[in-house]
Amino acid sequence: STDWKLPDHQKIAKNKVVGVVVLDGWGEYKDDQYNCIHTAETPFMDSLKKNAPNRWRLIKAHGSAVGLPTEDDMGNSEVGHNALGAGRIFAQGAKLVDLALASGKIFKGEGFKYIKECFGTGTLHLIGLLSDGGVHSRLDQLQLLLKGASEHGAKRIRVHILTDGRDVLDGSSVGFVETLENDLEDLRKKGVDARIASGGGRMYVTMDRYENDWDVVKRGWDAQVLGQAPYKFKSAVEAVKKLRAEPKANDQYLPPFVIVDENDKAVGPIVDGDAVVTINFRADRMVMLAKALEYENFDTFDRVRFPKIRYAGMLQYDGELKLPSHYLVSPPEIDRTSGEYLVKNGIRTFACSETVKFGHVTFFWNGNRSGYFNSELEEYVEIPSDVGITFNQEPKMKAVEIGEKAKEAILSGRFDQIRVNIPNGDMVGHTGDIEATRVACKAADEAVKMIIDAIEQVGGIYVITADHGNAEDMVKRNKAGDPLLDKNGKIQILTSHTLQPVPIAIGGPGLAPNIRFRQDLAGGGLANVAATVINLHGFEAPKDYEPSLIEVTDS
Ligand code: 3PG
Ligand code: CO
Repeated sequence: STDWKLPDHQKIAKNKVVGVVVLDGWGEYKDDQYNCIHTAETPFMDSLKKNAPNRWRLIKAHGSAVGLPTEDDMGNSEVGHNALGAGRIFAQGAKLVDLALASGKIFKGEGFKYIKECFGTGTLHLIGLLSDGGVHSRLDQLQLLLKGASEHGAKRIRVHILTDGRDVLDGSSVGFVETLENDLEDLRKKGVDARIASGGGRMYVTMDRYENDWDVVKRGWDAQVLGQAPYKFKSAVEAVKKLRAEPKANDQYLPPFVIVDENDKAVGPIVDGDAVVTINFRADRMVMLAKALEYENFDTFDRVRFPKIRYAGMLQYDGELKLPSHYLVSPPEIDRTSGEYLVKNGIRTFACSETVKFGHVTFFWNGNRSGYFNSELEEYVEIPSDVGITFNQEPKMKAVEIGEKAKEAILSGRFDQIRVNIPNGDMVGHTGDIEATRVACKAADEAVKMIIDAIEQVGGIYVITADHGNAEDMVKRNKAGDPLLDKNGKIQILTSHTLQPVPIAIGGPGLAPNIRFRQDLAGGGLANVAATVINLHGFEAPKDYEPSLIEVTDS
């Protein structure tokens, strides 16, 4: 059993209020016109970099530093906040699924055996994000799953696709659908009745998160389960091409569609006796659908029909809710997070963001675990996000409101740690709207300033960092770092995250003058932050945590 007691730090005093600010999607990159952090007015963050060289540095936020399969994997909020909160690097969903597919273990596990029971008479439905973004899902994993399922007896397969354009370039959906159609054609030649059955853009259909807007999930349900959608097509390639041709259409927001046969009948509604797998490994944007597919009692929208199916997630998405109860691959076991240690050592904790990032500083931070460790010592505040808009329309989002709540919490004297996520750089960066992203970065900078002013007032300490890059680079580039032009000679807007490192800054009146960043941890990454924060609360970090970034000098 775990010894939760953290030893006192020999040189760092206790009882300072520590403000931990995560700027979502805020990386460090060269100064050019597509760097929205550079081109926006961000005087506060700029001053940290300029004025305190021993207390500002860069840390890694992508690839193996956050448990992803390769160094070509950009960072993301799930793995980023997991690393920040857990202080260790865990092999993440993307990698665990790769391993399970490569070894064939996925087809021998409990989850697969469970759904396989339906293969004799039922249809296997695969629902998920169709791209090679590697943030929520990956095309090659879907391909291997299709192959393996058919080899293990699936005779009728329906794929319900969600187009991306957020973790990959907008417009890339057409190519992904063509690739999938080719694979399904090959399966058909082998006698498997395999087809795409429905689709829609990820941000408008199915992949909502943190219960921001259940209508998104309902639109998906209607298409996937009921076989109903405002658009009907004979093929998915045609669907995506036609819907993209509408004014202002993009992959992220394509409306829902179903594929119909010669008689205009949907080819793949989900019915009694079928098996369903949600192929995303990442949790946040699958939890809501998982609830709709699994819970007998459910009243957030009218499901009309609740088919008796066997349902498995690619992973189990919520360790606390044990949701879904069946899954193909076991999730990383992210235990003994810094949040749990600190609460068990009496640190009163406040966490806050707006809805679209709320679970990042709570659920992801705590190792994909929902709820409090100790409700007497913790308070998590969610500020409702705007619903039904794209965030370039409101690039300031709720930055001021988050700043105000944090400030209140700091000044209240009721908390030892105040932890927030400021979403603007990321959420607006994902829209690809450069002007709006600049406004977003400015708003984020102002919110940080507000919070740090409050930390100054109470004599506290601050730690400001980010979970991964996004707003610092808004254009696709070649290896040399120059914009990569498309066949028409145009730049290609990068809506996705990046491979860039992120800044971390420490400071505040409570930070003793002899505390600074160590010089010998050049390879430090997000996982080194947890021990750092634990130290700043006056404790030694657990021995197996990645080392703290700070040192206390003698002078
Ligand atoms: C999303 O889910 O919005 C993107 O795929 C990844 O963004 P996040 O990792 O910043 O949440
Ligand atoms: Co993002």
